[in-house]
Amino acid sequence: MWQSDEICDGVGYPVELVIGSESIVLDFPKRAVREPINGEKFRYGFAIAPELVRTVLRDNEPDWVNTIFLSTRFRAWRVGGYNEYLYTFFKCLTGERITYANGWFAEAHDDTASIALDRWEVQRRCPHLKADLSKFGVVEGNTLTCNMHGWQWDLDTGRCLTARGHELRCSPL
Ligand code: FES
Repeated sequence: MWQSDEICDGVGYPVELVIGSESIVLDFPKRAVREPINGEKFRYGFAIAPELVRTVLRDNEPDWVNTIFLSTRFRAWRVGGYNEYLYTFFKCLTGERITYANGWFAEAHDDTASIALDRWEVQRRCPHLKADLSKFGVVEGNTLTCNMHGWQWDLDTGRCLTARGHELRCSPL
């Protein structure tokens, strides 16, 4: 959740997961997994058999839409419309996937954002797979490293040092 402000803000409310007799809450606004508070009502919820959840967790399954929701072996309830952000979240249960999806949503909304890093102004989204450089970017001297996959850029020119193309928008502050 902490890697994906776009998706958490897009979901916008806590979601209940009922797994057998247990109930847990994916609290997207608070970026937390917690127990339900007494009498709490939810706009969206899923009930999934415990053995199915155990299997996808055991297999480190990164896409619950494919393994659970498309199998129709679950129950769901909701108030209001379909929430595309929520299903995108369940498709992206690895750091790499969620970062990519987060960047995709962010760029769909805005690709002009810049941030200050050390003594440089740089574009907020990594030119590789859109990681948020305010979280993953590290500056050493004149080199920026994105710690999502370790790609590097020369901050004097914006040139990518790891692969051809992928220029970075940057300038000294
Ligand atoms: S997202 Fe891959 S290096 Fe930044």
